[in-house]
This record gives sequence, C-alpha cells and structure tokens, in this order.
Amino acid sequence: MSKNIMETKILKSTQTDEAVALLKSGDVIAIPTETVYGLAADAANDDALHKIFTAKGRPSDHPLIVHIDSFENIVHWVEEIPENARKLGKYFWPGPLTMVFRKRKTVSSLITGGLNTVAIRVPNHPIALEIIKKLGAGIAAPSANAHKKTSPTKPEHVLKTLEGKIAAIIDGGDCSVGIESTIIDMTREIPQILRPGAISAIMIENVLNIKVGQPFSHNKKISGNMKIHYQPEIPLFVMPKEEIELIIQEKHNVAVMHYSELDKSEKADFYKMPATKSEYARKLYETLYIIDSTKVNKIIVEKPPVSNDWADINDRLLKASSK
Ligand code: TXA
Ligand code: MG
Repeated sequence: MSKNIMETKILKSTQTDEAVALLKSGDVIAIPTETVYGLAADAANDDALHKIFTAKGRPSDHPLIVHIDSFENIVHWVEEIPENARKLGKYFWPGPLTMVFRKRKTVSSLITGGLNTVAIRVPNHPIALEIIKKLGAGIAAPSANAHKKTSPTKPEHVLKTLEGKIAAIIDGGDCSVGIESTIIDMTREIPQILRPGAISAIMIENVLNIKVGQPFSHNKKISGNMKIHYQPEIPLFVMPKEEIELIIQEKHNVAVMHYSELDKSEKADFYKMPATKSEYARKLYETLYIIDSTKVNKIIVEKPPVSNDWADINDRLLKASSK
C-alpha cells in the first residue's frame, strides 16, 4: 500500500512552470477550472492517462474530457467540425461547455473509453489556460475527486480524496461556477445535451435557433449520467419545504440545506443556500463538503425549483441522493 502514497505538493497559482514540468514527466496534477478542479494529465501520454484512472478509482470505460486552449486546436482531436459547433464555440468558449465530436483516429482510447467520439472543452480559467498553452498540448481532466464522490471546488476538497495519490495540486482558490460543465453531443443532427450545466438548453437554443435534445435519464457510458454520482459520505435526501418542516420537529442529527425561509427547530443544523441559481451552484459542493465533516447522520436538501435554469442543480442532487 505504501507504494501508492506520494507527497502531494501544493503549488501556488504562479507556479505553472512546475505544474507543466510535472505534466511533461507524465505525472497527474489537480488544476483549477472555472467549474470544478480537474485532475489533469497530458492527453497524449497513455501512461499519464492510466494514472488518472488509478488515482480516482475510475472504471476504464468512462471517457475523459480533453481541455484545449482555443477552438482552432480542436482540429488535432476531431474528425469533423459541425457548423453548429463553430457557433457554440464562438459564443461559449472559453467557458463551461463541453462538446462531443467524432474523434480522430489518433485520439487514445483511454480518453474516449473505447467510444468513437471525444469530448472537448476550452476552460475559462487563467491558470488552466496558461498550463495548457505552456504544455503545448491538450490536457485530459476529469473532476479531481474519487470516483462517484462530490466534485471539488476548493483545493482542500481535492486533498480530501486524492492526497497521496497525485503529484501536486495548484491552488487557484475557489471555482467560480461550482458545477461541472454542460455536455452536448454535436455528432447528431439535432445536438443532444448529455449533462446539464451552467450553460442551459435555452442559452444554447438561442444561439443555434433550433431546439436541442434534453438529457437522457440514465446511460452507463456517461459517468455524469449514472444513477449514483456526486455523493457525499452522509446520505442525502431531497424534499419539499413542507416535508422538511415536519421532519425537523422529530428527527435529531440532521443537516438541512434550504434556500427559502423555514420554520426552524433546534434539533437540526441549518445551512442557508442562496436563492439565485448561479450563487447556489457556487455553494453547492462546498456546503456538502462542510456538512460531510460534521457528525450529522442525514443531509436533507430543500427541493430546488423545477425549471430549465435549475436543471443542473436538480440533476446533481438527484444523483447525490440516497433513495
Ligand atoms: O466541468 C467539467 O466538465 C469538469 C472540469 C474539470 O472540466 N470535468 C468533469 O469531468 O466533470 P468528469 O470526468 O468528471 O465528467 C466528464 C463527463 C463524464 O460524464 C463522461 O462520461 C463524459 O464527460 N464524456 C467524456 N467523453 C465523452 C464522450 N465521448 N461521449 C459522451 N460523454 C463523454
Ligand atoms: Mg466527475
């Protein structure tokens, strides 16, 4: 076991040269993006890609997202560039949108999990972009957390599940979006959203002037679409405000995450969430990590509004919940 334990260096945001040197030598390191921290490896180095799967305990058939520094560089990865992808790239990149394309033959099957498509994103984060530029290559990066666990939005979240398993983490402070990117499959005639995110279906439709497909409920190949994902250690349940108000009269040892005003009880710990979607998203994983470090035996989350704008939050909470 001790063989797998290494010192995880904490690099400052200015130490991008050190970060790039580690990537060039085939190490994996956690880097900040605007959505969540990513566990980065040189996407052209199969040995380094293997290390991502080992560190995360991720099944090898779960494909990774390739992060590049500009739309132009997708030519190294994709077979064809649909016109709609150009429009979305122009409008949303750099940003929290991942597009799925037909892959070039040269793309490692470790990245694609054996699929004939590849997922690409240009992150909107100065440190991530600087590292990609200095490396001069794409970076494969899943979220920097152990498989199925809550995604990290602060360096300490990364350390919680990956300390001793990765060479370094570069400290970029808090992630501004807080939820993983929207994923959209551009290989179909009608683009299909695979994972909701900060870039909503309506925002995409406004740019493309067509309706796009909404997420499937369950697909094993899409790790973000598995039934269980994003899970805190403590069991989580989503329910409407009225139900919560009843439950907290009797149950002890529960944490309640709510965004509306509640009739409170002394028997529960309360975590007030912002009522605005983007603010809520920024706080979601952080609050789950905080509650996870307490002694409660249940997390009760007030059901968010059911709307297009909140689709990503509802998706993550559904998958994080134990039913
Ligand atoms: O915001 C994000 O997307 C973050 C940051 C680090 O960029 N990354 C992230 O990666 O959330 P990960 O590995 O936790 O989730 C990537 C998702 C998975 O659900 C995976 O199945 C899907 O992308 N994916 C990757 N390649 C795909 C492909 N070719 N077709 C369909 N889905 C794909
Ligand atoms: Mg993930």
